[in-house]
Amino acid sequence: MLETALANPLLSAATAVTRPVETVTRLWDMRVFRRELRRPPCPYEVDPAWERHLHEHLGAAWPCPFCAEVQALWPQVLEPLKARGVDVGPDSFRGWNDGDPGLVRAIWCLIRHQRPSRVVETGVARGFTSRFILEALSRNSSGRLWSIDLPPVDRQAQAEVGMAVGDLYRDSWSLIRGTSRLRLPGVLKAVGRVDLFVHDSLHSERNVRFELDRVWPALKPGAAVVVDDVDVNYGFRSFTLSRAPAAALVCEAEPIRPDARRFNQKGLFGVAFKPEGGPSA
Ligand SMILES: C[S@@+](CC[C@H](N)C(=O)[O-])C[C@H]1O[C@@H](n2cnc3c(N)ncnc32)[C@H](O)[C@@H]1O
Repeated sequence: MLETALANPLLSAATAVTRPVETVTRLWDMRVFRRELRRPPCPYEVDPAWERHLHEHLGAAWPCPFCAEVQALWPQVLEPLKARGVDVGPDSFRGWNDGDPGLVRAIWCLIRHQRPSRVVETGVARGFTSRFILEALSRNSSGRLWSIDLPPVDRQAQAEVGMAVGDLYRDSWSLIRGTSRLRLPGVLKAVGRVDLFVHDSLHSERNVRFELDRVWPALKPGAAVVVDDVDVNYGFRSFTLSRAPAAALVCEAEPIRPDARRFNQKGLFGVAFKPEGGPSA
C-alpha cells in the first residue's frame, strides 16, 4: 500500500510520470482511507449460520453439494503457488490478503446456484477470487468475468497479479488495470447488466460506497454483491442502511492462518441481495 510506494520512491516517481491521474487518485484514496481509520471499528452483528441463511435465501438445499467442489479445488489452486515459493494468506501481498476459503465458498455457491452471465469484481492481487469465479462459471458452461485491479507499485508484485489464474480462461476473463474509481464506470457501461459483483479492492468506506452505489442500479434484481473485509470500514453498514437490500449477511472469514490485524483474528465479509421487484436503483 502506501508503505510500498514510500519504500520504492523511484518506481513511484516513474509511475507518477507515466500514469499521473492514476497516481493522484491512488494517493488521495489512501489519504482518505487513513483518515477513516481513526474511527472506532464498525460494530457488525455476525451471522454464525450465514452459509445456511445464504442457501435459504437462494432457495437451495443445505447442506450444499457445491461446497465440496471448492474444497476439492482449493489445493489445486494453492499448491502450484506454494511450489513457486509464494506466501499465501493474510497480509501476504504487500499488506493485502488473498481471498480466504469462506469468502470463496460464498462466491462459488452464488455462482453455481444463480448461474450469472456477467460477473464484475474489483481487487485481483494473486487472483484467488478471480480463479474461483472463472472455475465456477466454467462448470456452469457460461459466463464472463471483468476484474479491475490497481497493482502495487513494485514490479515483483505486479508480476504476481492474477498468477492464480495464469493463462487459463483467456476467453472469459478481462483484467483491467487501474483504480476502481477511474475504471468501474466504464466497465459498467460496457457490461450493462451485472449478475454478481465482488468488492475486494481498497477497503475504505468511501471506496466501498463508490463501487456499490454505482453497481447497484446495474445489478440484476435478485442478484448479490459480495464485499470483503467489511470490518475494516463502515461502508457495508451504511450501504445496507441506505439501499434496503432483500437480505444482508455478515459472515466470518476463514483465513488459512490467523490475521493478527483483525478484531477476531479472521475478518468479516458481507453479502447483500438486491430485491426482486421494485425500483432498480
Ligand atoms: C485484497 S487484494 C485482492 C485479493 C483477491 N481478490 C484474491 O482473492 O486474491 C486487493 C487488491 O486490490 C488492489 N487495489 C488497491 N486499491 C485499489 C483500487 N482503488 N482499485 C482497484 N484495485 C485496488 C490491490 O493492489 C490488490 O491487488
